[in-house]
Amino acid sequence: MSQLSEFLSNNQNKNVEELKELLRIPSISSLSEHKEDVQKAASWILNKLKQIGMEHVEIIQTKGHPIIYADLIHQENAPTVLVYGHYDVQPVDPVNLWETPPFEPTIRDEKIFARGATDDKGQMFLHIKAVETLLELNGKLPVNIKFCIEGEEEIGSPNLPHFLTKSKEKLSCDVVVISDSDMWDKGIPAITYSLRGLCSLEVSLKTANSDLHSGMYGGGVQNANHLLVQLLSTLHDSNGKVNVEHFYDEVMVLTEFEKEQIKALGFDEEKLKKSLGLTDLVGGEKNHPYSERISSRPTLEINGLWGGFQGEGTKTVIPNEAHAKITCRLVNNQDPKKIQELVKKHLDEHAPKGCTVKVSVGDVGNPFLTPIDSPMIQKAAEAYKKVYEKSPVYKREGGSIPIVSDFSQILNVPVVLMGFGLPDENLHAPNEHFHLENFDKGILTICAFLELI
Ligand code: BES
Ligand code: MN
Ligand code: MN
Repeated sequence: MSQLSEFLSNNQNKNVEELKELLRIPSISSLSEHKEDVQKAASWILNKLKQIGMEHVEIIQTKGHPIIYADLIHQENAPTVLVYGHYDVQPVDPVNLWETPPFEPTIRDEKIFARGATDDKGQMFLHIKAVETLLELNGKLPVNIKFCIEGEEEIGSPNLPHFLTKSKEKLSCDVVVISDSDMWDKGIPAITYSLRGLCSLEVSLKTANSDLHSGMYGGGVQNANHLLVQLLSTLHDSNGKVNVEHFYDEVMVLTEFEKEQIKALGFDEEKLKKSLGLTDLVGGEKNHPYSERISSRPTLEINGLWGGFQGEGTKTVIPNEAHAKITCRLVNNQDPKKIQELVKKHLDEHAPKGCTVKVSVGDVGNPFLTPIDSPMIQKAAEAYKKVYEKSPVYKREGGSIPIVSDFSQILNVPVVLMGFGLPDENLHAPNEHFHLENFDKGILTICAFLELI
């Protein structure tokens, strides 16, 4: 172990410089003007995987952004590990709030700042470095390894499920390992054993055939903004519960063990309020504690809302259309398609008098839940303990990585979510960063895991 850590600290500069190269490529998957940058990031990873000694390295083009595959299979009797990660990133706006530009990686206070630093280029890179380190020190790996790195996670992985199904043989393995989640807190590692799913919808509401003068018609005709607000307000009851019929039917309740574990971990609500600039933490269901509401309960959120006049000054108008974007976070065993239909049905049935409501359905992603006593998860826990000198916390994550459920179902193997991010690293927000402490410790933990299994 100490030989490893010495080797890593000697190489930290070089390793961080390499990560910076990848972070400089603006591989934003959702913006078509960055299509070539996404390709560039894929090529960069391809070259890196070749450089460290991976074999069968290839770029698989899809209808969208490419997938990278590589393997190194030389240990006949050892297990095979499949590493998944994503090299695409979220958009950077509002760009004026970044202290240093998002694609000019900068180190401050032992943290590396850039879009993708923690989600997920930085975390994905740890696996590349772990393999390189073990190969350089020992000339071989203790396991067989495969990489499957995609460029479309941030847009819901539209093309990866097809590749997984088609390449089941090629991707066959004993365990899938993913670092795209976070630790509990500084110095306290975590293994994520559940992720929430997702479904999205858009509502458009129309009234008259054009905007109307509010002096000539005001008081006489319906206003699209008012009707939309009225409709949306039927989606929750006064206790913060989602008011859509059958929404909660398949929701799994927490086990006593889980409830106790959440309690035992404690949660500093005061500190969180302060850091968020909030006076209260009162979103969602009143009769569930905060830490449950953000991890193991489903939600329905209005993400965007627009209609009528938004320009400078006043405009005395009665708008004739209004729109909203909605997503739900879902938990086991909710079926995202079914929930989407339930919400759509609710909106159609509650359409106020005097307007037409059109609801379109968008993306869906499955939730994920895995038992924490599986042998692979226990090995991961041992690895964390070795490096962080603390047993990891088992955590349910409120965010989503929809492809995880596909990996688990299509390949039919355990999935281990070993995160090295911290909860306050601003993923998807300005000033995203990754703690360098977890850069070296992350590589060490992954090396330890590969050796333990
Ligand atoms: N890595 C995140 C998911 C995540 C967030 C895990 C926080 C642990 C802690 C992932 O890249 C992500 O952002 N997922 C999206 C889903 C997607 C379909 C856009 C999400 O959760 O919104
Ligand atoms: Mn991610
Ligand atoms: Mn993300």
